[in-house]
Amino acid sequence: MSDSGNLSVLGICGSLRKASFNRAALNVAIALKPAEMSVTVADISQIPPYNEDVRTQGFPATVETLRRQIAAADALLFACPEYNYSMSGVLKNAIDWASRPPDQPFAGKPCAIIGAAAGMAGSARAQYDLRRSCVFLDMHPLNKPEVLIGQAQTKFDADGNLLDEAARGFIRDLMANLADWARLHAKKG
Ligand SMILES: Cc1cc2nc3c(=O)[nH]c(=O)nc-3n(C[C@H](O)[C@H](O)[C@H](O)COP(=O)(O)O)c2cc1C
Repeated sequence: MSDSGNLSVLGICGSLRKASFNRAALNVAIALKPAEMSVTVADISQIPPYNEDVRTQGFPATVETLRRQIAAADALLFACPEYNYSMSGVLKNAIDWASRPPDQPFAGKPCAIIGAAAGMAGSARAQYDLRRSCVFLDMHPLNKPEVLIGQAQTKFDADGNLLDEAARGFIRDLMANLADWARLHAKKG
């Protein structure tokens, strides 16, 4: 947290497609964030598939960048698609890379999760898997509200605007709670 009380949040989106509902949800979160928060979105599109042999030679530059961004952020905000009842491979792969020693950058980090999916459960199953990884990595995931945007294709317009007022309210509340949560952890830290 900066001296001025500003909070820096790193957004990490598990979908790479241009018209991603999860990326759109992240954009909505950015639009509805509290004024004292700034959000940067990580580019995880060029991170290679995890390979321990490569890691032992040194982190790829894209991973170094992500690790630096995570370490510097006051909090993380994951946008979590659901692929086959779990988080996307792209997101898991980025987390796997960033999580390797030394100086595991997720440790102690407050985080929040939002997600949108085609199914009724709105990425709930994927989010719970992500939550488990967050716990293993010693992050502090925010409990509430959950942001589960089900049948996402009916909730966003073609420009990525979220038309569902209830979902917008949950995202607004989540961003406010994430700010409080990050401040609480900054005090403890
Ligand atoms: C490989 C794959 C697996 C999927 N599995 C699920 C699933 O388990 N549950 C679900 O609700 N939607 C599933 N979907 C549909 C996604 O929710 C949908 O494609 C969504 O738009 C992906 O997120 P995005 O818009 O951010 O890219 C799957 C899509 C793909 C490509």
